[in-house]
Amino acid sequence: GWKMEDVLEEQQRVIKSTVGPDDHVICALSGGVDSTVAATLVHKTIGERLHCVFVDNGLLRWKERERVMETFERDLHLPVTCIDAADQFLSKLKGVTEPEKKRKIIGNEFISIFDAFAHDLEQKLGKKPAYLVQGTLYPDVIESCPPPGSGRTHSHTIKSHHNVGGLPKDMKLKLIEPLKLLFKDEVRKLGKLMEVPQGFLKRHPFPGPGLAVRVPGDVTLENRLEILRKADEIFIQSIKDAGIYDSIWQAFAVFMPVLTVGVQGDQRTHSYAITLRAVTSQDGMTADWYYFDQKFLVDLSTRICNEVPGVNRVLLDITSKPPSTIEWE
Ligand code: XMP
Repeated sequence: GWKMEDVLEEQQRVIKSTVGPDDHVICALSGGVDSTVAATLVHKTIGERLHCVFVDNGLLRWKERERVMETFERDLHLPVTCIDAADQFLSKLKGVTEPEKKRKIIGNEFISIFDAFAHDLEQKLGKKPAYLVQGTLYPDVIESCPPPGSGRTHSHTIKSHHNVGGLPKDMKLKLIEPLKLLFKDEVRKLGKLMEVPQGFLKRHPFPGPGLAVRVPGDVTLENRLEILRKADEIFIQSIKDAGIYDSIWQAFAVFMPVLTVGVQGDQRTHSYAITLRAVTSQDGMTADWYYFDQKFLVDLSTRICNEVPGVNRVLLDITSKPPSTIEWE
């Protein structure tokens, strides 16, 4: 293991020696641990010449935008432009049901928004930003062959096919990847050293396409996203209250696009179902479903049906990976 003080110092030295004194740097923040820690490190090194952007794609969790912006601004003092592009993403997703097509649309919209951000910035600065910060980790870099001189000898099995390479290729930005020799647990330690809040560093991973992969089929119909957000928030808060959040790799609700019959307060209902998914895992490649105790589940299903209009049934996903994937799409 490396000492994070040394890693921080070394990466700051590298950044100072590559980024010129008048160069500007941009960074897309996802709200996740990696991009946040990478941006914090760069900000510590070059200050206001770092320009971050956070895109609300309309597929975020309950109050996610407000929560991450507060961390960026109040806790980390990062310079972040928040772009509300929900309508833009959702209108492109209307009628789209094929999972990979949904991903592609979301990826392309993101690129076009990021591109526009970079162009606006160029206008403001009177020059092109020269570098792009990415929160690439060591497992994203290697397949089987560690970079020469990295000091790493063993290969690791994670394949983060999702996170890398999602930015404009023709922008000709040079990359700054201060985390590219680190594993996730080391990124958390580095974040802690730079005073990124502990609660933030322990957040579960969240997929780039967001809630789109948790609403099978068309995400834009009715108030599917709104229902999902409410149920998901109740689930996550219950997990935190029970003190088991850190024992779980990922937990989330999934919207079931199926109407079933229920009876709620003397009324016959015809409403949607919600599936609860929670897994333990080392790296996301394989996963086991998490075993909740019965009382926890009973209370949770009651709360979700009582508090989320449009839901009359709660299901629990008891499949591991394989044969299932962690996400539903
Ligand atoms: P699956 O569903 O493939 O997920 O078992 C493995 C891990 O990857 C995350 N995931 C994604 N992350 N873009 C991402 O950034 C994606 O398209 C995507 N699909 C899955 C998932 O949340 C889990 O951590």
